[in-house]
Amino acid sequence: MNSRSIGRGVAIVGTGMSKFGAFPGKATRDLFVEAFQELRASVDKGFDPQDIEALFIGNYSSELFEGQGHTAPIMADWVGLTPRPAVRIEDACASSGVALRQGLMAVASGFHDMVLIGGIEKMNNLPIAEVTEALATAGDTLYEIPAGFTFPGFYAAMASAYMHKYGASPESLMLVAKKNHDNGALNDKAQFNMSLADVMARKIASAEKKGRPIPEWSDEMAFLHDDRANPMIAWPLRLFDCSPVTDGATAVLLVSEELAKRFTDDPIYIIGSGQASDTALHDRAELTTISAANLASRQAYAMAGVAADNVKVAEVHDCFTIAEIIATEDIGFFKPGQGHEAAEEGLTSRYGPRPVNTSGGLKSKGHPVGASGAGQVVEIWKQMRGEAGERQVAGDLDIALTHNVGGTGQTAVVHLYERR
Ligand code: COA
Repeated sequence: MNSRSIGRGVAIVGTGMSKFGAFPGKATRDLFVEAFQELRASVDKGFDPQDIEALFIGNYSSELFEGQGHTAPIMADWVGLTPRPAVRIEDACASSGVALRQGLMAVASGFHDMVLIGGIEKMNNLPIAEVTEALATAGDTLYEIPAGFTFPGFYAAMASAYMHKYGASPESLMLVAKKNHDNGALNDKAQFNMSLADVMARKIASAEKKGRPIPEWSDEMAFLHDDRANPMIAWPLRLFDCSPVTDGATAVLLVSEELAKRFTDDPIYIIGSGQASDTALHDRAELTTISAANLASRQAYAMAGVAADNVKVAEVHDCFTIAEIIATEDIGFFKPGQGHEAAEEGLTSRYGPRPVNTSGGLKSKGHPVGASGAGQVVEIWKQMRGEAGERQVAGDLDIALTHNVGGTGQTAVVHLYERR
């Protein structure tokens, strides 16, 4: 592979995100203002927002979700940044991971010294059937959608192929959900800021209050096996195998390396970036890997001059539990077919050798699709700087990774980060 270099160094000096969830009273612009305000407060030595030279905003489908197109200049306006150039990036669920890469290239090339990247999505305005239809447009509307595919259906096909090929079980998937809910319970920005034990306790309390039969689950796995509590969505994926429908916004401030220490003594450097595309799912020889993600990660490792073994913490694209298992293989943490065993053995927990999705991941933190890629960076920033509170991973987190996928993997983008 032809290894590229970044050009001049680029650092992250601030991040912010809105609360993720369902917010009927708020518009996308309100959420972006929330994210931007948090970003402003996160820059240790402060900065003048008027020094921001350009905005790159990931947004999948505000037309379908909110009836609003041309969103980037609106975001610029609402955070007081007009007349700066504002660009919307659309690559489905990878929109803001790709926005990060565009911002990185703008600063690395010397074109800009300081740029704001971020992501937005407000999905909860529509009923679930219309949300599902809107999301399905990220598949192939010529070959796949007329055949009845939806996103849970796509990933269900990948899950059943994976189980068939490698002998994984629905329990392997459930353990990913349990871990990510445990992590999300420690993240006050998460849509499901609850462990599965919390969810079970809430359901029991609700049944008691309503005078209904009290569910008797012996543990979390019994809860996940209960068809009433955790209904089948698309076999083998149940409700708790799916990321939810989420409103949210995220923001990240990038500057050139030589300016970084003006804003913080503890910047995080972006040291590798990879991006690739692929055919839609129906045209692939293999459903058990996302080859664009594998290629993007190899590009990023080559650019950074590090290996998978050097990565101390990662946020990966777990839009469905199977996606996390496949992701951990595609980024080289585990060999093909071993990701499910790693999940079963707890290797990806906060205390394991390969912590993955300490934020709660898309599964528990939420998945406002266009905002999710930049949301991963928010968690990496906190973890690397030792600011992740109760969910902080122990040790010197000098190298970290984000992995963001669009659709079923027609787009994938991977970044590597360093704390010096
Ligand atoms: N995980 C766990 N619980 C969930 C959930 C999820 N993904 N989505 C909803 N819930 C819970 C709600 O909190 C609610 O709980 P309560 O009854 O205790 O209050 C209950 O399930 C019903 O919520 P509701 O909003 O009516 O669910 P829904 O049927 O409208 O949506 C899904 C459920 C799975 C269809 C929806 O979350 C979905 O489509 N997810 C996938 C999104 C997607 O494809 N994204 C793109 C990926 S590439």
